Amino acid sequence: MIGVFDSGYGGLTVLKPLLEKLPEYDYIYLGDNARTPYGTRSEDTVKRYTEQAVEYLFSRGATLIITACNTVSALGLRHVQKKYLRDQNVKDKKILGVIRPLVEYAAKTTKSKRVSVVGTRGTIQSKVYEIEMEYLDSEIKVYSKSCPLLVPLIEEHWHYKPETMMILKKYLRPLKSKNTDVMILGCTHYPLIYKKFNKIMGKKVNVLDSGKIVARSLEDYLKRHPEIETKLAKGSSRSYVTTDCPDRFKEFANKELGLGIKDVKTVKLWE
Ligand code: DGL
Repeated sequence: MIGVFDSGYGGLTVLKPLLEKLPEYDYIYLGDNARTPYGTRSEDTVKRYTEQAVEYLFSRGATLIITACNTVSALGLRHVQKKYLRDQNVKDKKILGVIRPLVEYAAKTTKSKRVSVVGTRGTIQSKVYEIEMEYLDSEIKVYSKSCPLLVPLIEEHWHYKPETMMILKKYLRPLKSKNTDVMILGCTHYPLIYKKFNKIMGKKVNVLDSGKIVARSLEDYLKRHPEIETKLAKGSSRSYVTTDCPDRFKEFANKELGLGIKDVKTVKLWE
Protein backbone atom coordinates (compact mmCIF):
# COMPACT_ATOMS: atom_id res chain seq x y z
CA MET A 1 0.00 0.00 0.00
CA ILE A 2 1.11 3.57 -0.72
CA GLY A 3 0.68 5.99 2.18
CA VAL A 4 0.29 9.66 1.33
CA PHE A 5 0.80 12.00 4.24
CA ASP A 6 0.01 15.68 4.55
CA SER A 7 -0.64 18.20 7.29
CA GLY A 8 -4.25 18.39 6.08
CA TYR A 9 -6.15 18.67 2.83
CA GLY A 10 -3.39 20.08 0.65
CA GLY A 11 -1.75 16.75 -0.10
CA LEU A 12 -4.85 15.81 -2.05
CA THR A 13 -3.37 17.92 -4.88
CA VAL A 14 -0.60 15.32 -4.97
CA LEU A 15 -2.84 12.33 -4.35
CA LYS A 16 -5.16 13.16 -7.26
CA PRO A 17 -2.49 12.95 -10.00
CA LEU A 18 -1.06 9.86 -8.27
CA LEU A 19 -4.45 8.16 -8.52
CA GLU A 20 -4.72 9.20 -12.15
CA LYS A 21 -1.23 8.06 -13.13
CA LEU A 22 -0.91 4.98 -10.94
CA PRO A 23 -4.50 3.84 -10.24
CA GLU A 24 -3.74 0.17 -9.73
CA TYR A 25 -2.15 0.52 -6.29
CA ASP A 26 -3.83 0.58 -2.87
CA TYR A 27 -3.62 3.99 -1.19
CA ILE A 28 -4.14 5.38 2.27
CA TYR A 29 -4.23 9.17 2.68
CA LEU A 30 -3.58 10.69 6.11
CA GLY A 31 -4.35 14.35 6.75
CA ASP A 32 -3.32 15.77 10.12
CA ASN A 33 -6.05 18.40 9.95
CA ALA A 34 -6.28 18.80 13.71
CA ARG A 35 -2.74 20.20 13.82
CA THR A 36 -2.57 21.98 10.48
CA PRO A 37 -0.86 24.25 9.45
CA TYR A 38 2.63 22.80 9.77
CA GLY A 39 4.13 25.67 7.79
CA THR A 40 4.30 27.96 10.81
CA ARG A 41 5.65 25.34 13.25
CA SER A 42 9.16 24.67 14.49
CA GLU A 43 11.38 22.00 12.98
CA ASP A 44 11.19 19.87 16.14
CA THR A 45 7.41 19.95 16.13
CA VAL A 46 7.21 18.99 12.44
CA LYS A 47 9.66 16.12 13.09
CA ARG A 48 7.53 14.81 15.96
CA TYR A 49 4.30 15.01 13.98
CA THR A 50 5.94 13.33 10.99
CA GLU A 51 7.17 10.46 13.18
CA GLN A 52 3.66 9.86 14.48
CA ALA A 53 2.22 9.88 10.97
CA VAL A 54 4.86 7.51 9.60
CA GLU A 55 4.38 5.08 12.48
CA TYR A 56 0.64 5.10 11.88
CA LEU A 57 0.95 4.55 8.12
CA PHE A 58 3.44 1.70 8.59
CA SER A 59 1.07 0.14 11.16
CA ARG A 60 -1.71 0.29 8.54
CA GLY A 61 0.43 -1.66 6.07
CA ALA A 62 1.94 1.12 3.94
CA THR A 63 5.34 0.09 2.59
CA LEU A 64 5.92 3.24 0.59
CA ILE A 65 5.13 6.64 2.08
CA ILE A 66 5.02 9.89 0.13
CA THR A 67 5.26 13.00 2.27
CA ALA A 68 3.08 15.14 0.02
CA CYS A 69 3.52 18.11 2.35
CA ASN A 70 6.42 20.36 1.36
CA THR A 71 6.95 21.47 4.94
CA VAL A 72 7.25 17.84 6.04
CA SER A 73 9.53 17.07 3.08
CA ALA A 74 11.68 20.06 4.10
CA LEU A 75 11.80 19.61 7.87
CA GLY A 76 10.76 16.08 8.78
CA LEU A 77 11.68 13.74 5.93
CA ARG A 78 15.39 13.20 6.63
CA HIS A 79 14.59 12.60 10.28
CA VAL A 80 12.10 9.79 9.63
CA GLN A 81 14.23 8.28 6.85
CA LYS A 82 17.10 8.03 9.35
CA LYS A 83 14.94 6.81 12.19
CA TYR A 84 12.95 4.13 10.36
CA LEU A 85 15.00 3.11 7.36
CA ARG A 86 18.60 3.23 8.50
CA ASP A 87 18.49 -0.39 9.53
CA GLN A 88 19.90 -2.46 6.66
CA ASN A 89 17.12 -4.99 7.21
CA VAL A 90 14.48 -2.47 6.21
CA LYS A 91 14.83 -2.97 2.50
CA ASP A 92 11.20 -3.19 1.58
CA LYS A 93 10.03 0.17 2.98
CA LYS A 94 10.60 3.67 1.66
CA ILE A 95 9.69 7.23 2.56
CA LEU A 96 9.92 9.74 -0.29
CA GLY A 97 9.36 13.48 -0.36
CA VAL A 98 8.23 15.90 -3.03
CA ILE A 99 11.12 18.36 -3.15
CA ARG A 100 13.70 16.35 -5.08
CA PRO A 101 11.43 15.60 -8.08
CA LEU A 102 10.42 19.26 -8.32
CA VAL A 103 14.00 20.50 -8.15
CA GLU A 104 15.10 17.93 -10.74
CA TYR A 105 12.33 18.98 -13.10
CA ALA A 106 13.08 22.68 -12.62
CA ALA A 107 16.80 22.11 -13.22
CA LYS A 108 16.03 20.21 -16.40
CA THR A 109 13.69 22.82 -17.83
CA THR A 110 15.16 26.21 -16.88
CA LYS A 111 17.03 27.89 -19.70
CA SER A 112 17.86 31.09 -17.89
CA LYS A 113 19.18 29.10 -14.91
CA ARG A 114 16.98 31.22 -12.66
CA VAL A 115 14.21 29.47 -10.74
CA SER A 116 11.65 30.92 -8.32
CA VAL A 117 10.06 29.03 -5.44
CA VAL A 118 7.08 29.83 -3.25
CA GLY A 119 6.07 27.96 -0.11
CA THR A 120 5.21 28.15 3.56
CA ARG A 121 7.44 30.02 5.98
CA GLY A 122 8.88 26.73 7.30
CA THR A 123 9.79 25.45 3.84
CA ILE A 124 11.28 28.72 2.62
CA GLN A 125 13.25 29.39 5.81
CA SER A 126 14.73 25.89 5.67
CA LYS A 127 16.35 26.81 2.30
CA VAL A 128 15.74 23.23 1.22
CA TYR A 129 15.12 24.21 -2.41
CA GLU A 130 18.34 26.22 -2.57
CA ILE A 131 20.28 23.35 -0.97
CA GLU A 132 18.88 20.68 -3.28
CA MET A 133 19.47 22.86 -6.34
CA GLU A 134 23.04 23.65 -5.34
CA TYR A 135 23.63 19.91 -5.07
CA LEU A 136 22.15 19.28 -8.52
CA ASP A 137 23.45 22.26 -10.48
CA SER A 138 25.27 25.00 -8.62
CA GLU A 139 24.94 27.40 -11.56
CA ILE A 140 21.18 27.67 -11.11
CA LYS A 141 20.04 30.54 -8.93
CA VAL A 142 16.99 30.03 -6.73
CA TYR A 143 14.83 32.95 -5.57
CA SER A 144 12.28 32.08 -2.92
CA LYS A 145 9.37 33.74 -1.16
CA SER A 146 7.12 32.54 1.63
CA CYS A 147 3.41 33.26 1.23
CA PRO A 148 1.97 32.44 4.66
CA LEU A 149 -1.49 33.90 4.09
CA LEU A 150 -2.33 31.65 1.16
CA VAL A 151 -2.99 28.40 3.05
CA PRO A 152 -5.63 29.88 5.39
CA LEU A 153 -7.27 31.75 2.50
CA ILE A 154 -7.55 28.56 0.46
CA GLU A 155 -8.80 26.51 3.41
CA GLU A 156 -11.54 29.09 3.94
CA HIS A 157 -12.42 28.89 0.22
CA TRP A 158 -11.44 32.57 -0.06
CA HIS A 159 -9.30 31.93 -3.11
CA TYR A 160 -12.28 32.72 -5.31
CA LYS A 161 -12.33 36.27 -3.93
CA PRO A 162 -10.40 39.22 -5.39
CA GLU A 163 -8.57 39.76 -2.11
CA THR A 164 -6.52 36.61 -2.72
CA MET A 165 -5.38 37.91 -6.10
CA MET A 166 -4.33 41.20 -4.49
CA ILE A 167 -2.34 39.42 -1.79
CA LEU A 168 -0.73 37.08 -4.29
CA LYS A 169 0.36 40.00 -6.47
CA LYS A 170 2.11 41.52 -3.48
CA TYR A 171 3.83 38.25 -2.62
CA LEU A 172 5.03 37.70 -6.17
CA ARG A 173 6.21 41.22 -6.91
CA PRO A 174 9.81 40.63 -5.67
CA LEU A 175 10.03 37.39 -7.65
CA LYS A 176 8.77 38.93 -10.87
CA SER A 177 11.76 41.24 -11.04
CA LYS A 178 14.19 38.30 -10.84
CA ASN A 179 13.55 37.19 -14.43
CA THR A 180 13.18 33.53 -13.62
CA ASP A 181 11.72 31.24 -16.28
CA VAL A 182 10.52 28.41 -14.02
CA MET A 183 8.47 28.65 -10.83
CA ILE A 184 8.06 25.84 -8.30
CA LEU A 185 4.85 25.83 -6.28
CA GLY A 186 6.47 24.48 -3.12
CA CYS A 187 3.29 24.07 -1.11
CA THR A 188 0.49 21.56 -1.52
CA HIS A 189 -2.25 24.19 -1.56
CA TYR A 190 -0.87 26.44 -4.27
CA PRO A 191 -1.84 24.26 -7.26
CA LEU A 192 -5.43 25.05 -6.29
CA ILE A 193 -4.74 28.62 -7.43
CA TYR A 194 -2.43 27.64 -10.26
CA LYS A 195 -4.19 29.93 -12.76
CA LYS A 196 -3.61 32.95 -10.55
CA PHE A 197 0.13 32.22 -10.31
CA ASN A 198 0.24 31.75 -14.05
CA LYS A 199 -1.56 35.00 -14.73
CA ILE A 200 0.64 37.07 -12.46
CA MET A 201 3.96 35.54 -13.50
CA GLY A 202 3.15 35.86 -17.20
CA LYS A 203 3.95 33.82 -20.28
CA LYS A 204 7.71 33.81 -19.84
CA VAL A 205 7.52 31.80 -16.63
CA ASN A 206 6.66 28.11 -16.61
CA VAL A 207 4.73 27.55 -13.38
CA LEU A 208 5.23 23.87 -12.62
CA ASP A 209 2.34 21.52 -12.03
CA SER A 210 3.74 19.97 -8.85
CA GLY A 211 1.37 17.02 -8.44
CA LYS A 212 1.84 15.75 -11.99
CA ILE A 213 5.62 16.01 -11.70
CA VAL A 214 5.61 14.06 -8.44
CA ALA A 215 3.36 11.38 -9.96
CA ARG A 216 5.60 10.99 -13.03
CA SER A 217 8.65 10.80 -10.83
CA LEU A 218 7.06 8.08 -8.68
CA GLU A 219 6.17 6.11 -11.78
CA ASP A 220 9.84 6.24 -12.86
CA TYR A 221 11.00 5.36 -9.40
CA LEU A 222 8.81 2.26 -9.26
CA LYS A 223 10.15 1.13 -12.63
CA ARG A 224 13.70 1.49 -11.33
CA HIS A 225 12.91 -0.26 -8.02
CA PRO A 226 11.07 -3.52 -8.63
CA GLU A 227 12.00 -4.64 -5.10
CA ILE A 228 9.64 -1.92 -3.80
CA GLU A 229 7.07 -2.08 -6.59
CA THR A 230 6.40 -5.78 -6.28
CA LYS A 231 5.61 -5.34 -2.55
CA LEU A 232 2.81 -2.87 -3.26
CA ALA A 233 -0.72 -4.27 -3.21
CA LYS A 234 -2.62 -3.66 -6.42
CA GLY A 235 -6.29 -3.76 -5.47
CA SER A 236 -7.05 -0.10 -6.27
CA SER A 237 -8.38 0.42 -2.73
CA ARG A 238 -8.53 3.93 -1.25
CA SER A 239 -8.72 4.86 2.45
CA TYR A 240 -8.92 8.37 3.81
CA VAL A 241 -8.12 9.25 7.41
CA THR A 242 -7.95 12.57 9.18
CA THR A 243 -7.08 13.61 12.72
CA ASP A 244 -10.03 16.03 12.72
CA CYS A 245 -13.56 16.25 11.39
CA PRO A 246 -14.28 13.69 8.62
CA ASP A 247 -17.19 15.67 7.20
CA ARG A 248 -15.12 18.81 6.68
CA PHE A 249 -12.39 16.71 5.08
CA LYS A 250 -14.87 15.14 2.71
CA GLU A 251 -16.39 18.49 1.83
CA PHE A 252 -13.02 20.05 0.95
CA ALA A 253 -11.80 17.03 -1.00
CA ASN A 254 -14.95 16.78 -3.04
CA LYS A 255 -15.52 20.51 -3.57
CA GLU A 256 -11.97 21.54 -4.40
CA LEU A 257 -10.65 18.37 -6.04
CA GLY A 258 -13.75 16.51 -7.14
CA LEU A 259 -12.48 13.30 -5.61
CA GLY A 260 -15.94 11.91 -4.85
CA ILE A 261 -14.83 10.55 -1.48
CA LYS A 262 -17.60 8.81 0.46
CA ASP A 263 -15.92 7.52 3.58
CA VAL A 264 -13.42 9.30 5.82
CA LYS A 265 -12.33 7.93 9.19
CA THR A 266 -10.92 9.81 12.16
CA VAL A 267 -7.67 8.64 13.72
CA LYS A 268 -5.91 9.59 16.93
CA LEU A 269 -2.15 9.90 16.38
CA TRP A 270 -1.23 11.07 19.87
CA GLU A 271 -2.46 10.85 23.48
N1 DGL B 1 0.97 21.06 3.34
C1 DGL B 1 1.73 22.25 3.63
C2 DGL B 1 2.91 22.37 2.65
O1 DGL B 1 2.89 21.84 1.56
C3 DGL B 1 0.87 23.48 3.60
C4 DGL B 1 -0.10 23.57 4.76
C5 DGL B 1 0.57 23.66 6.10
O2 DGL B 1 1.24 24.68 6.38
O3 DGL B 1 0.43 22.73 6.87
O4 DGL B 1 3.88 22.97 2.99
